[in-house]
Amino acid sequence: MQIIKTIEELRPIIKGWKKEGLQVGLVPTMGYLHEGHKSLIVKAASENDKVVVSDFVNPTQFGVNEDLTSYPRDIDRDAALCEAAGAAVIFHPEPQEMYFSDNCTFVDMDALTKGLCGKTRPTHFRGVCTVVSKLFHIVTPDRAYFGQKDAQQLAVVRRMVRDLNFDITIVGCPIVREADGLAMSSRNTYLDAKEREAALILHKSLALGEEMMKAGECDAVKIKDAIIKNIGTEPLARIDYVEIVDSETLKEVVSIEKPVLTAVAAYIGTTRLIDNFSYEP
Ligand code: PAJ
Repeated sequence: MQIIKTIEELRPIIKGWKKEGLQVGLVPTMGYLHEGHKSLIVKAASENDKVVVSDFVNPTQFGVNEDLTSYPRDIDRDAALCEAAGAAVIFHPEPQEMYFSDNCTFVDMDALTKGLCGKTRPTHFRGVCTVVSKLFHIVTPDRAYFGQKDAQQLAVVRRMVRDLNFDITIVGCPIVREADGLAMSSRNTYLDAKEREAALILHKSLALGEEMMKAGECDAVKIKDAIIKNIGTEPLARIDYVEIVDSETLKEVVSIEKPVLTAVAAYIGTTRLIDNFSYEP
């Protein structure tokens, strides 16, 4: 496996693969990889001849008061995980390799990005769409892999690919959890022991909502209130949002009739965590 730091070095490698008729999979990440990322890489390796993992903490998707500088980084550990999972290349550029100092072109989306995480992170998805578009142009993959953990991001990327005619198949992958149910996240490393315990409330409360849906409850407001109430029992948790939305449009629903996404964002101490589940009636 190779660690490549520049676009100039990466392009001929990919051109060579394409000349041989090989299929290329891309797994975009911000590094500090865990089993959730690994599941994407393993899946990509099973469906493509070559897998590129991008490992880049993308500055344009962080808001001014967010954790860009403190975001955890460990390229040596990431490289070992990628190699074990079957990647051929890690693309690990410096910010100045990805963005010119006078960069003035961004990819923005009108729908899907205003609600859920977009409410408190108004510039986040512009940064995600921009960097993912750039990675798509640089790597030109046949398939790209994204986790359901970031359900809004997955929906946004699918829509961008449709709207901008990227000839790339987007593959969504299930959420990987710790043994006790906490969704794996690079940001879990911010939690101290007490907060780690408290963070479980997100999964537990979502599971409660899912049980209600499975039992036939159709009233979205009732389910949402039950989730909010349950998270409220944890003193260390502060809700950013709890929403039940249409899986495709991400618009709020009042009744569970079509596939829905139930998504939560909450602060545990100062760490903002997200989790969700999808349900088809
Ligand atoms: P990052 O948070 O590193 O996540 C990279 C990919 O791993 C995303 O598609 C995310 O949904 C997936 N992932 C993270 N935790 C997961 C889990 N527990 N189970 C399954 N998949 C999981 O998402 C980003 O980076 C960035 O926004 C990026 C797309 C790379 C653009 O910068």
